[in-house]
Amino acid sequence: MTPVGEVPDDPFLPGPMAIREAELRTSKRGPRIMTTQRQRVSFVGLGYVGLCTAVAFANRGFETIGVDIDAKRVAQIETGRAPIHEPRLDRMLKTALQTKRLKVTEDVSQVRATDVIFLTVGTPSEPGGEIRLSFVEEAAREIGRCLRDEHGYRLVVVKSTVTPGTTRSTVRPVLEEASGKKIGVQLGLCANPEFLREGSAIDDTFQPDRLLIGAMDGETAARLEGLYRAFFGGKLPPTIVTTPETAELVKYASNAFLATKVSYINTIANIAQLVPGVDVEKVAEGIGLDPRIGPLFLKAGPGYGGSCFHKDLQALIAFSHALGYDPRLLGAVEEVNEEQAAKVVELSERLLGSLRDKRVTVLGLAFKKDTDDIREAASIRVIERLKQKGAEVTAHDPIAIPNARLLLGDSVEFAADSASAIRDADCCIIMTEWDEFRKLSAKDYIEAMRSPNLVDARRLYKPEDFEGLNLLGIGLGKDKARGG
Ligand code: UDX
Repeated sequence: MTPVGEVPDDPFLPGPMAIREAELRTSKRGPRIMTTQRQRVSFVGLGYVGLCTAVAFANRGFETIGVDIDAKRVAQIETGRAPIHEPRLDRMLKTALQTKRLKVTEDVSQVRATDVIFLTVGTPSEPGGEIRLSFVEEAAREIGRCLRDEHGYRLVVVKSTVTPGTTRSTVRPVLEEASGKKIGVQLGLCANPEFLREGSAIDDTFQPDRLLIGAMDGETAARLEGLYRAFFGGKLPPTIVTTPETAELVKYASNAFLATKVSYINTIANIAQLVPGVDVEKVAEGIGLDPRIGPLFLKAGPGYGGSCFHKDLQALIAFSHALGYDPRLLGAVEEVNEEQAAKVVELSERLLGSLRDKRVTVLGLAFKKDTDDIREAASIRVIERLKQKGAEVTAHDPIAIPNARLLLGDSVEFAADSASAIRDADCCIIMTEWDEFRKLSAKDYIEAMRSPNLVDARRLYKPEDFEGLNLLGIGLGKDKARGG
């Protein structure tokens, strides 16, 4: 048996004994499926999902290989510094490398030495919203070629976000052709989407709400279930075993539903804003107490961002159109989201009138707190509008400035901290719910700004704590607005 060795002191990790017992228990359950020999795993594609999941497996004691074609990325990961900002990731990456459980390489042929190969390459958008499958196909081809002369059974797991049918109709033929092996005979294949959130990807890997195993056959499902049983120390999260197509659609349906919730509450917020005495926060609380609705994902704001929601909605819409069905609801979700940036800018116009030559400060660039990711961030849409209307924009974010600078260049002035960002500003807009912005008081704004106009697009502040300041908040009815 592979020595399990030291597992870092982490509340989510079972001790080595727990891992061994889990494996033994599993081996009793399924004779051909698990042995006491720990399975070796590899991840092809070390983006967000591949890296976080590989590091998690290594920290659970699995011999893990991470492969990426980007030499610079591999070199950086090898130094123990993750190329993405994710809480706990650097610490766990260092442990994984020090214990030698994680090896990273550009050489895809190293997957030969592993039992389970996860495909975790990106599926970027085409101009029409469809996903580009070239990375998935290329990775599948490479994996297939590497396995051509191998004899033992291998399991290939598609973790990349792919539209229904991709695992069966695209990955399968490519793998079979390149490897010369038949799926279901010497090769297992399944779709196993992930639901990681940026900022809590490590916690989500160790404590997922559910597992989706979309297997081509029963043996494949049992093998992947066995692997996860060992990973989770014996007890699986709620697990659904289904077809690859269903698993693939669950991923899209989840993100589309969450995005719908956000656009829904933003719609209610926009109505609430027109009604004196109404506060969308209380409306959300009121509807969230209905167990059929639930309280989560009902925070009104400037609109959703991030690498998933917009991309996945566009892919699902394009996929559906290709099948001859127009999913109008999903189109509306996206439209509402796009328009929400205009709503934020409108609030600043209510305070300032024309924005021409006004100094507007944007606090927060990341699409949500605890990440430096600005992909599809509402801040970018708002800044573009502010610029179009002639405002001079100063922005601050605790960690996302380097990424924002790449996108926005010199069109925006970047401030090193929030205090200097708001100095002499005519209006300040809160775009990300960073804790450091919560600490700013009405006095801080009043003293620093040329005129204390504040647009709270994240509803960070209690209006009653901001007397003496012109505050407008998303979804805050008219009479609570001062100066509007
Ligand atoms: C999302 C999904 O949650 C995750 O399961 C999937 O794997 C990837 O996409 P992520 O992009 O990290 O994760 O962000 P998430 O926390 O879901 O937030 C998405 C956006 O919605 C953010 O811009 C956030 O600010 C916004 N949001 C979220 C709201 O405006 N209101 C809410 O109530 C919740």
